Amino acid sequence: MPEEPAMDRADPTDVTLFVCTTCRRAIGESGDFERPGEPLHAALADRLAGVAGIAVTATECLSVCKRPGTIALSGGRRWTYVIGDLDLAAHLDEIVAGALAYREAPDGIVPWRERPQCFKKGVVARIPPSPLGVADVRAAPVSSSTAPSEAAE
Ligand code: FES
Repeated sequence: MPEEPAMDRADPTDVTLFVCTTCRRAIGESGDFERPGEPLHAALADRLAGVAGIAVTATECLSVCKRPGTIALSGGRRWTYVIGDLDLAAHLDEIVAGALAYREAPDGIVPWRERPQCFKKGVVARIPPSPLGVADVRAAPVSSSTAPSEAAE
C-alpha cells in the first residue's frame, strides 16, 4: 500500500517551517558561495524536533534569492509569512521563538511587538490563507514542484 501524502496526516492546526536550502551567499570577494539554508535547516530541525505542531521542511527556492537565508511559515488557516536575511549564528533562537509564536496564533499574525527582530527586519511578504477550506486543500492534487532556483536566472 503506498504511503499517503504527509498533507493528509497533518492536523489543520499544524505549522510548517519551510527553509530554503538552495540559496547561495557569496563568501567575501572570493567568487565562492556558501549555502546558508542547509545548516540553518539542520539546526532548526534539531531544535524543533519533537515540538508539537511544527514541522521543519527543506524546500527549494522561495524567490527571495537575493536575501539568503530564507524561510516561510504557513499552516492551517493562517497567513503565510516569507522572511529573508536570516543567519544561523545570529538568528537561530529568534527563528525558533518566532515559529513557536506563529504556531500559537490561529491566524498566523503575531503582534508586531512580540515578533523577533529578525522577523521584523526580514519580512518579505505575507500571503492570505487560501479561501479554500483545509479539507478542500487536502483534496486538491499535490504536485511535487521542482521549480528551479530563480537565483541564477
Ligand atoms: S530563495 Fe533560496 S534559492 Fe531562491
